[in-house]
Amino acid sequence: MTAPADFAGRVVLVTGAASGIGAAVASRLAAAGAHVAVADNDCIGAERTVRMIREAGGHAESIVLDVTDPASVEAAVTATVAAFGALHLAVNSAGVTGTTAPTGEYDPEDWRRVIDVDLTGVFYCLRYEIPALLAAGGGSIVNLSSVFGSNGCPQQVAYAAAKHGIVGLTKSAAIEYASQGIRVNAVAPGFIETPLLTEGLTPLSRRTLVRAHPIGRLGTATEVAGLVAFLLSDHASFITGSCHLVDGGYAAHWK
Ligand code: NAI
Repeated sequence: MTAPADFAGRVVLVTGAASGIGAAVASRLAAAGAHVAVADNDCIGAERTVRMIREAGGHAESIVLDVTDPASVEAAVTATVAAFGALHLAVNSAGVTGTTAPTGEYDPEDWRRVIDVDLTGVFYCLRYEIPALLAAGGGSIVNLSSVFGSNGCPQQVAYAAAKHGIVGLTKSAAIEYASQGIRVNAVAPGFIETPLLTEGLTPLSRRTLVRAHPIGRLGTATEVAGLVAFLLSDHASFITGSCHLVDGGYAAHWK
């Protein structure tokens, strides 16, 4: 049995940490001793996550961040280092879904919005996190992809393209920095109970989604956070450049 990961004194920047998976990751790492920069463009949600962490005895600061703006991402990394003295770990979880339409009718503006947040945003994060990790002597990064990072997603072409792109970003950065002590991995969740998924979900579409997961239910943000924490930890010291499913059997299922 592997001992729980210990992040005492490690500094982590979590984007999208106001809600869902990002908030669960922030709480999980703080509970294991990490100092957490809770970064999001939703300031109220970020403060809520910080309050939750502090009430549980952890260390966290909220940071305003828009991942579509490189200056904002650079400033968030600088603010994290200023607040906690270094940056050792990062989790890039900020994300949005697009409107629903087939590719031949997909709104070009919505394509740009989704790609800006879900793909270019992750690039900007890597762009500014990696130099800070190098300055700290190495570290580990996890990017949030999806089961739609290796499968098509009908009616959500921009989301699927972005999530495939994250896998390419992850592998490329992993190869570039492996010899300098930085590991970069991605996680690919199935359908997880968070506001991103559940807003607008009808009882019928929920039943359809549940049936697509052999485990018989949707996942929780806490279950994704467990995998993220493992990949960030020293228990995963030989794991880099790969994308890891946490999907209740969704990708294995014939549907
Ligand atoms: P969520 O909607 O609960 O959280 C996303 C967070 O990203 C929100 O706090 C939001 O304010 C923030 N955000 C959005 N745009 C931003 C921007 N421009 N700058 C900074 N922050 C921004 O969603 P959830 O479910 O926690 O998703 C987290 C990640 O996991 C996303 O990348 C999503 O695509 C991915 N994912 C989610 C799945 C699910 O079923 N919930 C399944 C597979 C992947």
